[in-house]
Amino acid sequence: MSEELKKYWKNYINGQWVESVNGGRIDIENPATALPIAEVARAEKEDVDIAVKAARECFNSRVLYNMRPTNRGMLMFEIARHMTEMADEIAIAECLDNGKTLAGGKNEALAAARYFTYYGGLADKLEGRMIPLGADYIDYTIPSPFGVSAQIVPWNFPLQIAARSVACALATANTVVLKSPELSPLSTYFIAEACNRAGVPAGAVNILCGFGHDCGASLVSHPDIDHIVFTGSLKTGQNILHAAAERVIPSVMELGGKSAGVLFEDADIDQAVNSTAAGIFTHAGQVCSAQSRLIVPRKMHDQVIEKLVAKASTLSIGPGIDGKDITPVISGGQADKIDGMCKAAVQAGAEAATGGGKAEGLDGHFIEPTIFTKVKSDMTIAQEEVFGPVLTILTYDDQEEAIALANGTDYGLCAGLYTRDLATAHWAADRLIAGQVFVNEWFAGGIETPFGGTKRSGFGREKGQEALLNYVQTKNVGIRITDGGGGRPGG
Ligand code: NAI
Ligand code: MG
Repeated sequence: MSEELKKYWKNYINGQWVESVNGGRIDIENPATALPIAEVARAEKEDVDIAVKAARECFNSRVLYNMRPTNRGMLMFEIARHMTEMADEIAIAECLDNGKTLAGGKNEALAAARYFTYYGGLADKLEGRMIPLGADYIDYTIPSPFGVSAQIVPWNFPLQIAARSVACALATANTVVLKSPELSPLSTYFIAEACNRAGVPAGAVNILCGFGHDCGASLVSHPDIDHIVFTGSLKTGQNILHAAAERVIPSVMELGGKSAGVLFEDADIDQAVNSTAAGIFTHAGQVCSAQSRLIVPRKMHDQVIEKLVAKASTLSIGPGIDGKDITPVISGGQADKIDGMCKAAVQAGAEAATGGGKAEGLDGHFIEPTIFTKVKSDMTIAQEEVFGPVLTILTYDDQEEAIALANGTDYGLCAGLYTRDLATAHWAADRLIAGQVFVNEWFAGGIETPFGGTKRSGFGREKGQEALLNYVQTKNVGIRITDGGGGRPGG
């Protein structure tokens, strides 16, 4: 299969596929085999400068802004059409580069295409307001683009995450410089290819790959960007926010989570177990919105663990290309980190009901599906993002305690609950501190539903109509239409 994959990928800047200025390259690895599969041009500061200049010139030309928004939307439908046409090719790239199954890779491609149709359809629906000031004035607001949007994408769902921010930027007539993740950049290049084929103006979308510490850092601190979108770790988000503060750049931050599902006594246990397994084992747990904690009534603990362990034992471990359930984590470094967190949890007194670290006998970076019991809420394994197929179980005696446990981390991205009772569902949903609450199905929602964090999970919303509001700032225009003038400030 890997023969079908292109061996060398360039950056896409100002409507051209280009080498990097310094000629560097990055090796791209298949995490299922730990073998190299391709190389990409390594962008550094010099390449970022060229890309930002192209994006600036495109923005200043007003080519996107002057378009009738419905036509900008149609251009985005064309991008979606090309993404869909390339879906099988994208699936292979994402499968080999990221370890996903082919079905998972294809889902990335189709979801990415849908971001372009969804936001393309909204391009002509973002309206200003007319504000009444009496007969002497006309006053209206314009939702204005910021300018050059700098976007930093993580490696777990690179294509979907890139598509959602590029689509929002285009719908609102911003231009983009996007840094793809050095651990899995390949699928993001298809956005560039689709833009190229669709006839998106040169410079409107620039996609380059480089390391975070040089390429990423140069981009977010570039003097000519106007906006930052970041998804990734809390620590890197904090670094980027320092750069943003220096130049007062508005940003959207999605910084992961430690999301909990609360199981109530009346829940359908089998439904909760299946949902929890999907919530933590999908893409080997490398999901910012993963259900990494389950909070169960003490008296139901043994029953729930038994069912969860039985479920985990049905999951196969191996390469996504073979259609396995637990596919690899992205790198040796991530596997070591996850394994280390598992070992430390046992040291701290937790017990692995199943799994507990690296899977033996496989060439790539595989972690066993793992379930920790005997966990106290203040343990690291219950507080910090593992980003692996590792579930932590906590127990409670009364419902208030369950909510306190769910809310008891620095994060607040998602939360969930399992109950058959609507009143309980509403009571809990109202008290859980999170940007998104799932009831009886983890990940319930989609492109249409707003998603983002509270607390240290970040701020701003991706997905849904709300996301567009992160890409515009309101400009008010007040016009005196009769003789006179010389109003009062704030009057
Ligand atoms: P990271 O946050 O460092 O990487 C995400 C992106 O940021 C990559 O494209 C990287 O090149 C870029 N980056 C790194 N340093 C930068 C800088 N100074 N300026 C600009 N861009 C920079 O995440 P990493 O180290 O790959 O993974 C570590 C942990 O982060 C994971 O174990 C997981 O807990 C979390 N993570 C969360 C994600 C989420 O979806 N919220 C996605 C990826 C990682
Ligand atoms: Mg890779």
